Amino acid sequence: PTALAGRHFLKELDFTEQEFLGLLGLAAELKAAKKAGTESRYLRGKNIALIFEKPSTRTRCAFEVAAADQGASTTYIDPSGSHIGKKESVRDTARVLGRMFDAIEFRGDAQSTVEALAEHAGVPVYNGLTDDWHPTQMLADVLTMTEHSPKPVKEIAFAYLGDARFNMGNSYLVTAALLGMDVRIVAPKAYWPAQEVVDRARELAVSSGARITLTEEIGEGVAGADFVATDVWVSMGEPKEVWDERIAALAPYAVTMDVLRATGNPDVRFLHCLPAFHDLGTKVGREVYETHGLESLEVTDEVFESAHSVVFDEAENRLHTIKAVLVATLA
Ligand code: CP
Ligand code: NVA
Repeated sequence: PTALAGRHFLKELDFTEQEFLGLLGLAAELKAAKKAGTESRYLRGKNIALIFEKPSTRTRCAFEVAAADQGASTTYIDPSGSHIGKKESVRDTARVLGRMFDAIEFRGDAQSTVEALAEHAGVPVYNGLTDDWHPTQMLADVLTMTEHSPKPVKEIAFAYLGDARFNMGNSYLVTAALLGMDVRIVAPKAYWPAQEVVDRARELAVSSGARITLTEEIGEGVAGADFVATDVWVSMGEPKEVWDERIAALAPYAVTMDVLRATGNPDVRFLHCLPAFHDLGTKVGREVYETHGLESLEVTDEVFESAHSVVFDEAENRLHTIKAVLVATLA
């Protein structure tokens, strides 16, 4: 068994720097083995439940393919396909699924739901995104950064532009704090992470050596950055009505070629967890663009399609990193 055998994966703050880096190392090994065709099947005979209260492309597929590559089976439970939280409490569901499955993944709104599943299931529980955190995404993002930067993790600087009060902003801040990176949250003050998240990150920074900047100034925030990241301005589960307010507040923080130039780094790379509103390719996007006279939202198509963009490496790395979580906790 590995050092993380039997552990949950609920949020970054539950892990030490060494444990987090250990998962990244394992992900890199598993990625190399898959590419070389030498992957071992450490999870033969395991069964994993995937509960999704919200839609997903990457996270669901990463869990399913990772499990299949490793010889495990998955059961996908869609947003309307079970009694969880409706006719049956989370606690009862946890106790039932814990009798049948070796592990449970959950994506939904409340962090308290995934925490309750973990408390009662008796098997490892993984957070596939809540309103507060997106920890499996952080593994993929840091792996992608290490692949696209010659620097050691602690020397990597990245700026996150956009709504930082939600899962991606929170997770970037605490992950950088945990690993000792140089992180800049660049957004209007009202869109910064909650004070308790900032306080926790600053505490971690004391021992990790992380440099933490929260700023409204784009020039200051992105100067010297190795990576610039953003996320959608309206997250899953939020009402359509908030688009007006978000566009008014966040439009200056859209990632454009000017923003990338302002880093002063010709090799700067662009990250986005995806899905992204960068062109006219989506139904939701088209409605918003038509109403507001825009052609893109959080990132321009020019940046998204440029050589700076590593978003599809980042998406692929969801597979290898989620596989690392499964192998580390279940093998
Ligand atoms: N980045 C991410 O979590 O994508 P999905 O919503 O498609 O899973
Ligand atoms: N903040 C986004 C991330 C999607 C992966 C959301 O919660 O919808």
